[in-house]
Amino acid sequence: MKPASLFLGKAVSVAAAVGAIIFGPGCAEFSQPPAAGSFASVRPVIESNCVHCHGTNRFAHMPAFTDSAALASLIGPDKWIVPGHPERSRFFHIVIYADAHPTAMPPTGHAPSDADIEKLRAWISAGAPLPKGAPILLQPRGKAPRST
Ligand code: HEC
Repeated sequence: MKPASLFLGKAVSVAAAVGAIIFGPGCAEFSQPPAAGSFASVRPVIESNCVHCHGTNRFAHMPAFTDSAALASLIGPDKWIVPGHPERSRFFHIVIYADAHPTAMPPTGHAPSDADIEKLRAWISAGAPLPKGAPILLQPRGKAPRST
C-alpha cells in the first residue's frame, strides 16, 4: 500500500467512526418517517395544529389533547374519534371542514396541510392506536396556528 492510500484508508475509517457517533443511536427516528397509521406519525400533526389551544390552559368545554391518555379518552364508538372510521369521527370532520365553516379546527383559517390530514385519516382508519405504558406528553410545536 502506498502512503497516500494508507492515509486515505485512515481518513475513511475516521469519517466512519465520526459518522457512527453523529448518526448512530436514535438516527432511525430521523432517517425513516414513522409508519402510516402509527401514533408517531400523527403526534407532530396534533402538536403543531391543536395542542396550543387544547392544552392545559384550554376552556373547560374543549376536549383536552394534553397527553396520549387524554387522547385515549376521546376514542371510542360514540366519541370524537371512532376507531377505524374517520368519516364518522367529529375530530376528523372539523379538520376537513372549509376554513369558513364556524366549527372548523383550527378555527382561524389555518387548516392543516393535505399531508397532515392524510396522516390523521390513516391513524383513525388504523384504529387510532396509542402506545402502551406511561402517557406521552403532547406539547405545542411551533407557532400557534392563529398567529401570523
Ligand atoms: C386557535 C385555537 C384552537 C386550535 C389551534 C384548535 N382548536 Fe379545537 N377548539 C378551539 C375552541 C375555542 C373550541 C370550542 C369551540 C366552541 O365551543 O364553539 C374548540 C373545540 C374543539 C372540538 C369540540 C367542539 C366541536 O366543534 O364539536 C374539537 C373536537 C376540536 N376543537 C378539535 C381540534 C383539533 C383536532 C385541532 C387541531 C387540528 C384543534 N381543535 C385546534 C380552539 C382551537
